[in-house]
Amino acid sequence: MTACEAVFIQPIPCPRKNTAATPDHAASPSAGDQPTRRTPPALVAVPEIPPALSVWTTAQTSPAAQRKDFYVPESTAHPAKMLPEVVRHAVAHYTEPGELVLDPMCGIGTTLVEAVRLGRRAVGVEYEPHWADIATANLALARERGVDHDARVIRGDARQLVTLLPAEYVGQVALVVTSPPYGPSTHGQVSATPAGVQKYHHLYGSTLDRGNLANIGHHRLLAGFTRVLAALRTFLRPGGHVVITARPWREHAELIDLPSQVLACGHAAGLVAVERDVALLARAADTDLVARGSFFQRDFIRKQRESGLPLHLIAHEDVLVLRTPPHSAAVQAAARRHPASQPDAARGSASAKSAA
Ligand SMILES: C[S@@+](CC[C@H](N)C(=O)[O-])C[C@H]1O[C@@H](n2cnc3c(N)ncnc32)[C@H](O)[C@@H]1O
Repeated sequence: MTACEAVFIQPIPCPRKNTAATPDHAASPSAGDQPTRRTPPALVAVPEIPPALSVWTTAQTSPAAQRKDFYVPESTAHPAKMLPEVVRHAVAHYTEPGELVLDPMCGIGTTLVEAVRLGRRAVGVEYEPHWADIATANLALARERGVDHDARVIRGDARQLVTLLPAEYVGQVALVVTSPPYGPSTHGQVSATPAGVQKYHHLYGSTLDRGNLANIGHHRLLAGFTRVLAALRTFLRPGGHVVITARPWREHAELIDLPSQVLACGHAAGLVAVERDVALLARAADTDLVARGSFFQRDFIRKQRESGLPLHLIAHEDVLVLRTPPHSAAVQAAARRHPASQPDAARGSASAKSAA
C-alpha cells in the first residue's frame, strides 16, 4: 500500500509535486470545526520523504527507570506513553531554556514533564479527562520534586486547538512533541490468568466516544491528525519544529506505514518535513541492539513466526520532524487577530542550530 492509497485527507486538495502552497484555510479556525469526512484517494498529497538523519539512543535505560520518581503510579495504565528520553532529546536539540513546548495530545504529560525538567515552559491538551488529570498530577509531582515551572494541561479536542488554546500562545511555540493514538492492536500490557493471556490497558477511554481519534478508524484518524497539525501552525513561531513519533504495524500481514502517512498529513497541513530520524526502543550495546519488547510483543512475534511470517521485535520508532514554512501566512494572520501576542521574529534564530 502506498501513502497515496492509504491517506485520506479532507478538506485540503492535493498539491501536484511540490509546486502548490498549502491554502491558508488549512490552519483557520473554521477548518477545525468541520466534520471529519473521508476523501477520495485522488485528493491525497504525497510529500517528498526527507532522508534519515540520525539515530537517537533513547532506550539505554528501561522505560520504568526513565520515569522513576517523576510520574504518579496511575501513569502506568496509559496504553501508549512516549519514552521520556525521546522528549528530552527533542527538547534539548530544538529549543533553548525558557522556550515553549506544546503537546496537543499529551496523554499522561510526558512531553510537559520532561520539558519543564529541562527548564522549558509547556502546555498540553488531552481529550480524555482521566489522562488530563494524570498529566496535571505529574506536573504537580514535578513541582514537589523541586522543579519550579510554568506549565498547564487543557482538557479538550485537539482538532479545536485554535479555539481551545488561549491567545497568549499564538505564534509562541518553539517545539511540538507528540504522537497520534493508534488502534488497540498496537498498545497495552498483558497478564497470564487461568483463562489464558489477557490484554489490559490497551484502550484510551470509552471506545464509543468518537472524539478520541483512536476510535474513529484509520482513515479518519489521519484526517483528524491533519486537522491537529494544521491548527498547530497558528501557535508555532516561524521556523518552529514539530516532532512526531510513530511506528508502522501489520494488519493481516500487511504493513501499515503510519510514519509515511504522518508525513503526508504534515505536508497536507502546510508543514515542511525536514528530518526522518530513528528513536531506539532497544538498548544499543557494543555490537548489537538489545530489544526491550514486552511479553505481549514477544508472544505476538513468536506466533507470527510459527505461522510462517518472519517478523522481528520492533526496535525503534520513526521520528518525523517538520517545521513551519518561514513567514507562515497562518501565523501572521493569527497575529493580526491577536495583536497582543505577536510572534517574536528574532526568536527564529534559536532554532537555527537544529536546522544546521
Ligand atoms: C499516543 S497517546 C500520547 C501519549 C503521550 N505522548 C504520553 O507520553 O503520555 C495519544 C493521546 O491522544 C489522546 N487523544 C485522542 N484523541 C484526541 C483528541 N481529539 N484531542 C486530544 N487528545 C486526543 C489520547 O487520549 C491519548 O492519550
